[in-house]
Amino acid sequence: MRKQALMGTGLLTIMLTACGGSSEPEVVEQIVVSEPGEIAPVEAPAGDSSVDLVAAGEAAFAVCGGCHVAESGEASRAGPNLYGVVGRSAGSLDDFAYSDALAGSGITWDAAQLDEFIANPSAAVPGTIMVAGAVADDERRAAIIAYLESLSE
Ligand code: HEC
Repeated sequence: MRKQALMGTGLLTIMLTACGGSSEPEVVEQIVVSEPGEIAPVEAPAGDSSVDLVAAGEAAFAVCGGCHVAESGEASRAGPNLYGVVGRSAGSLDDFAYSDALAGSGITWDAAQLDEFIANPSAAVPGTIMVAGAVADDERRAAIIAYLESLSE
């Protein structure tokens, strides 16, 4: 059980790493590599770094925390609650007054969409009212996204 959970997060890390670059085919290759018998050498370091990544992301989320909470059931503040944002339709919380730009964007948040938006909100969604909080650093964004992905029921 625990081992499977670790492996799951390990794969997540690999996928995120691949997303940072470009191609999805690489992800498939990595998954195949980790499936056969010799899981241990791949699993251990990947599992550890995944935990580190989420922890780093939680720390980096401080720059978002001025506007966003990320806790189940909490009311939105200056920005919408980001708990469970991965997989959610953009602009879909009832307790937040979104811009028409974001609400009408048609985005469903996944790692790639989040990466683009957090890197430069108004380039990703022209007219968004998220006017601060952009993160230029690739690794920092990957960590924040890993943290957001870790937040769900
Ligand atoms: C200055 C306040 C502020 C900061 C700082 C900020 N945001 Fe936002 N964020 C907003 C606002 C306001 C919106 C709503 C945008 C809209 O409706 O166009 C938003 C929207 C979002 C959304 C879309 C959520 C949804 O429900 O569709 C995501 C994702 C997001 N922000 C992530 C982040 C992350 C990650 C950070 C930190 C790196 C961050 N934001 C920093 C104010 C902020």
